[in-house]
Amino acid sequence: MYDLIILGAGPAGYLAAERAAQAGLDVLIIEKRFIGGVCLNEGCIPSKALLHSAKVLDYAKHSAQYGVTVQNASIDHSAVIERKNKIVKMLTAGIKGKMRTNKVTVIDGEGVITGKNTVAVGDAKYQGRRILICTGSQPIIPPIKGVAEGLKNGTVVTNRELLDIKEIPDKLVVIGGGVIGLEMASYFNSAGSNVTVIEMLPHIAGQTDKEVSAILLKNYADKGIEFKLGCKVVEVTDNAVIYESEGKSDMAHADKVLLSIGRKPVVDGIGLEAIGVYCENGAIVTDKTMRTNIANVYAAGDVNGKSMLAHTAYREAEVAVNNMLGKKDIMRYNAVASVIYTSPEVASVGETEETAAGKGLEVEVITQPMMFSGRYVAENVRGDGICKIVIDKKLKNILGVHMIGNYASEIIYGAALMIEMQMRVEDVKELIFPHPTVCEIIRETLFK
Ligand code: NAI
Repeated sequence: MYDLIILGAGPAGYLAAERAAQAGLDVLIIEKRFIGGVCLNEGCIPSKALLHSAKVLDYAKHSAQYGVTVQNASIDHSAVIERKNKIVKMLTAGIKGKMRTNKVTVIDGEGVITGKNTVAVGDAKYQGRRILICTGSQPIIPPIKGVAEGLKNGTVVTNRELLDIKEIPDKLVVIGGGVIGLEMASYFNSAGSNVTVIEMLPHIAGQTDKEVSAILLKNYADKGIEFKLGCKVVEVTDNAVIYESEGKSDMAHADKVLLSIGRKPVVDGIGLEAIGVYCENGAIVTDKTMRTNIANVYAAGDVNGKSMLAHTAYREAEVAVNNMLGKKDIMRYNAVASVIYTSPEVASVGETEETAAGKGLEVEVITQPMMFSGRYVAENVRGDGICKIVIDKKLKNILGVHMIGNYASEIIYGAALMIEMQMRVEDVKELIFPHPTVCEIIRETLFK
């Protein structure tokens, strides 16, 4: 009997395996596709490799602004993909190595729960004192006319296939202007595609602060991406996407269509019904300790549908393992940062004005252009980034920080720490930020 059986070796699964094994538990992890999950193989990491190549190209193309002459800068997409594959190989090998060093048993196969302490892989059955479900998420495939056929013939792709396409499409239509849609639109726009993003909402980037998403939209519209906002896709044909807006129908020509309208937890076919694991809206319901309604069964990562970010999955995995070990630990979601790795980058943490208002919180909002950071001015010709800080009017602590501008992705953890530690404006004002850095913008905003 294992102390712990984990289903799925993505960020939640492999981190839980590592932490649990380090604490002395005998751990079995079962993975049906690839160690590292979506994040490492076809999500966070590979997309960042592509986006970095796009950034290098953009710098080269606009190098004259920085006094540097570069001639004929162009992208070699196959070399970009080759580099991406090497990175994925290296990092997945690292995870495999960690499993070996920590003596975690790894099984390649599809695990199905058949009892409160039993998981089957084919004909083999494994016993575990506890089970941790980390089966992740998969793209939502909407019942739009032509999508199923398009997926079969390769005209329609999800981010999985798009990351490996051999040629840059002349016309790429992206359905859904959320995180995946925007990151991929960003790469393919830089790589030479004519990109159109069709988004149902009147704005891009989902829950992102509206002022920040408007700046992002303007940056990408200036780079040539076409945005069709408030538009609902009704049909996909072999060479076009048909959409409707205010009762009128229109179309965008497409050589390739990226479907990125969200992801849903993987809860089917893993035996949840065999032991009665409770789900709501297609996600496993967990408490603050990541426990399901079944005492020895936990769930971490996208499968519980709470935040669907790799870094949330890491922390949820740690909380689950700590609770298995009898250590008190609870999951808090109020300081989970989110980043869109476009150029400029977007990073946010905590409350926006809208979410704060929804909770009845009275807030004060301070916004400062990124140009108030000397380093930002030195590195961004005509940069139009901003930093916006949401403050609790009564308690004077930081509730949210929202930024657009490069390095935001690397700065935001500091803002998350301020929220996590419930720091007041006065506390942050006493912090000494290194100079010159873009992170000084936080100080500049608070002293506005
Ligand atoms: P998303 O939820 O971020 O965005 C989907 C967008 O599609 C929404 O804006 C929605 O209004 C729109 N939409 C839905 N149906 C539509 C339709 N029929 N026509 C037009 N628009 C439609 O989902 P996305 O981009 O697929 O990402 C999935 C998940 O992956 C997210 O949970 C995200 O957190 C995660 N992710 C995170 C990344 C990061 O942290 N940088 C990068 C990539 C993915």
